[in-house]
Amino acid sequence: MEFKTIIEPFRIRQVQSVRSTTKEERAVALEHAGNNVFLLKAEDVLIDLLTDSGTGAMSNEQWAGMMRSDESYAGADSYYRFEKAVKDITGFKHIIPTHQGRAAERILFGAAVQEGEVVPNNTHFDTTRANIEAMGGAAIDIPAPGSGDTQSIVPFKGNMDIDELKTILDQWSDKVPMVMMTITNNSNGGQPVSLENIRAASVVCKERGVPFFIDACRFAENSWFIKTREEGYKDHTPIDIAREIFSLADGATMSAKKDGMANMGGFLALNDDALAEKCRSMLILTEGFPTYGGLAGYDLESVAIGLYEALREDYLAYRVRTIAYVGERLTDAGIPILQPPGGHAIYLDAKAWLPHIPQEQYPGWALANFLYIEGGIRASEIGSVMFGQQQDGSEKFADKELVRLAFPRRVYTQSHIDYVVEVLCYINTIKESIKGVRIMKQPTALRHFTAQFETVE
Ligand code: F0G
Repeated sequence: MEFKTIIEPFRIRQVQSVRSTTKEERAVALEHAGNNVFLLKAEDVLIDLLTDSGTGAMSNEQWAGMMRSDESYAGADSYYRFEKAVKDITGFKHIIPTHQGRAAERILFGAAVQEGEVVPNNTHFDTTRANIEAMGGAAIDIPAPGSGDTQSIVPFKGNMDIDELKTILDQWSDKVPMVMMTITNNSNGGQPVSLENIRAASVVCKERGVPFFIDACRFAENSWFIKTREEGYKDHTPIDIAREIFSLADGATMSAKKDGMANMGGFLALNDDALAEKCRSMLILTEGFPTYGGLAGYDLESVAIGLYEALREDYLAYRVRTIAYVGERLTDAGIPILQPPGGHAIYLDAKAWLPHIPQEQYPGWALANFLYIEGGIRASEIGSVMFGQQQDGSEKFADKELVRLAFPRRVYTQSHIDYVVEVLCYINTIKESIKGVRIMKQPTALRHFTAQFETVE
């Protein structure tokens, strides 16, 4: 008999208490935090869905590896175990550890991007965009046509527009130092990219002699979607699919805080000898010696083991099913979400759900605050607060007002998930009472982290 219940594929042996608070206590806490959930104390949060980055639970095997670690400054055993794991999965020649993903990005773009150059990507994550722009380059998003429609159900909504890629490479033939592909496509709902699309981008880049890099943060989740959705891959293992993805690229940047299952870590991996040498020199300036790159030996161990755990089929089945389950329950309740659910998060569509709040009163932000006060759940707005502030100080509303519920890996159980669904279904019955917000105080850039808000009465 094959039973249909997908269980958490682990037992819990160490626990962390969460603290229940009253609605009144949460209202006070949020007020003290300037009505910005980023400024809350984590102890005042019951279920923390702010991010899936560095927030996962490590396994007994990872902790065992950490105890075994070697903290030698140069040539530590831990580095060689890390290098072996990353090479085994990615096949790249040079493996450069970094403290997290953005450090790998800064080093790669610092070494390879010049002022006035253009880097296309299916959709840049904020830090890749910012690091390219910091070099004077332009970060261009070329998502596949139709992927902006939040309601269409297509299997690989994270894909790149290959025709647009060709147009850009024709137009700026000597201005594109590299092309990037983000898997899964976090800024577009955590949607996966098909192997067919990755291969097509790789072929176009090879024909023109342009290096092709993968932003690999959620490569294991993406591999699982390929296995379960793409024709011809159902009998392939996630690790074989991951190897095939990486074999199509010249290098990758990685935040091991996601599919590395670690609380800290990342890497830059690449084949080009000269570029690797330049990157290693830059690494020494800000991250550290090339065999530790800003990480402790025990971090290198946790990543070396975590990368394989992220590729286990029982884990991926449970992981992706959890997100899909939340998506199905919310959809059944008539709560609009970005469809279909992606690999690491559910994105609530606040603009569609709360049409009574005008965009200038930031419906996504208002919803995130309401969700915290009603249920103690912390989520993040991905809308006009995050993207609306222009360099000249003007305001441009975002296309979408989303609220991301990002699920930490191996942290919450089915009843936590059911609780989140219950709170959202309750909010659905009183949604007309949610009020918009206005900004009282804000910094000049990246305002969502520190801005302060007030409810519009
Ligand atoms: N690329 C993608 C696609 C990401 O999602 C992130 C981080 C990074 C790069 C940067 O990695 O944080 O280790 O420096 N995303 C987190 C999030 C912060 O919440 O989505 P990092």
